[in-house]
Amino acid sequence: MLKVTETQEINFSKELIAQFDEMVQRYPQGKQKSALLPILHAVQAEYGWLSPSAMDNVAEYLNIQPIEVYEVATFYTMFFLQPQGKYVLEVCRTGPCQLVGADKIMDHLEKKLGVKEGEVTKDGLFSWRGVECLAACGMAPVLQIGPDYTYYENLTADKLDTLIEELKKK
Ligand code: FES
Repeated sequence: MLKVTETQEINFSKELIAQFDEMVQRYPQGKQKSALLPILHAVQAEYGWLSPSAMDNVAEYLNIQPIEVYEVATFYTMFFLQPQGKYVLEVCRTGPCQLVGADKIMDHLEKKLGVKEGEVTKDGLFSWRGVECLAACGMAPVLQIGPDYTYYENLTADKLDTLIEELKKK
């Protein structure tokens, strides 16, 4: 994953542009904007988040206004508008998960990682946040970890500690 700051101007690689070209070809001519969501996912996979420069470049590539990219990127919560850790830990905080300890899991995570929700650990490895229902309520409490969004169910503080230590060793 390439690291970029909030003010850094970026240029997409030839490989990334080739991915965009393939995505645009899936849609009828003149409907290139339909490829916006997959393109934003590809950009986020490359940089870990959507920086202002990246979103402006996407608008230029698709020949649309930057606001058209911003309104989509800010609507969907799976897009990050600030730098994230290499691993993004997302704790479900909706009713069923909350009933069986999601709040405690988030408190534990904050203490264990030493950063508040949305912040990145100093080593750049982790960030975390509470999210809404992950559709695995029967296995609450639930955590998913990006970038590949693996699920971890029936979570406990001990399981979380083990998981974090394993990720540190990767
Ligand atoms: Fe947590 Fe549904 S409420 S997965």
